[in-house]
Amino acid sequence: MSDATPILHMFAPQKHMSPFDVNMAADAGFKVIVPYINVELGEVTPLVQDAIFSRPPEYGKRTGVFIGGKDALLALDMMKAAKEAIVPPFELSVFADPAGSFTTAAGMVACVEKLLKEKHNRDWNGTTVAIFGATGVVGFASAVIAALEGAKVKMVAHRGIERVVKTAEAAKERFGVDLEPVPGETPEQKAAIVKDAEVVFAAAAAGVEVLSAAEMGDASKLLVAADVNAVPPPGIAGMELFMNGEQLLGCEKALGVGPLAIGDIKYKTQAGLFKQMLASDGTVHLDFRDAFALARSLVS
Ligand SMILES: NC(=O)c1ccc[n+]([C@@H]2O[C@H](COP(=O)([O-])OP(=O)(O)OC[C@H]3O[C@@H](n4cnc5c(N)ncnc54)[C@H](OP(=O)(O)O)[C@@H]3O)[C@@H](O)[C@H]2O)c1
Repeated sequence: MSDATPILHMFAPQKHMSPFDVNMAADAGFKVIVPYINVELGEVTPLVQDAIFSRPPEYGKRTGVFIGGKDALLALDMMKAAKEAIVPPFELSVFADPAGSFTTAAGMVACVEKLLKEKHNRDWNGTTVAIFGATGVVGFASAVIAALEGAKVKMVAHRGIERVVKTAEAAKERFGVDLEPVPGETPEQKAAIVKDAEVVFAAAAAGVEVLSAAEMGDASKLLVAADVNAVPPPGIAGMELFMNGEQLLGCEKALGVGPLAIGDIKYKTQAGLFKQMLASDGTVHLDFRDAFALARSLVS
């Protein structure tokens, strides 16, 4: 174990660094935490190089960069820039989790995967997943994680399909996955999407009921529905905060996963990734794929 003081430089592209993330980093064991706000992509390289050259190379594994924000693609671009700025043997670790979305998506996919396996004897391969809130950071990350596992993912557009098409194109370009944009603006369209889905992820904005009882009315193929929204009303009618495998009211066989069941795994995943940065024998670079690997091990 290095005796170097663990230092975390936290980059936010917007006006504030999230207090949630600052607290998580402190509780995981970082001793010096410095937030940087309004950070632009082009500033990542000089900031990283400023951080690495000031410490002996062996201290690099106790020097970290955290990337927050509200934009998954920008966070991934910043992470790439940070990795490319490293000049071995001068290195540091990088962890991206914009708006907590990567660890939240990882927690949601891992909780649903466990129920699919244990209660329905299924895995992601070929499973039809419909994602509401598809243009959001949690929606994007959960879509890519599920698609990388072999799911057939539909990205539901609630106000014009063009933005969802762009999201799907970015996922294809960066991760090689096919996400299908589908219009979901009317109650009829949403009901038809639910009717065809085996898994639903509700990742829309806080306090928005994205699926009503009527829209969930014919969910005959639905195996598991997960909802990350903890602000009333629930994102999916009938969802309860701590639900974790109980039957969803009004559904034939669908099991529910509520936001606080997901939040528990999200919290443990984010804490665990900060601890990986502190305990690793070398430097690490952590995005939503690493978050999913850890969340999966936490639920099993
Ligand atoms: N349980 C947990 O541990 C946890 C942790 C973090 C976040 N969350 C929750 O996760 C959810 C998503 O967070 P986020 O950061 O990904 O949010 P975000 O980036 O703001 O995305 C919100 C998504 O919801 C969509 N949306 C907004 N109003 C809608 C409506 N009336 N009908 C359908 N879709 C609508 C947005 O579409 P537009 O692009 O068209 O606006 C966008 O796709 C929030 O509810 C948040 O509170 C939960």
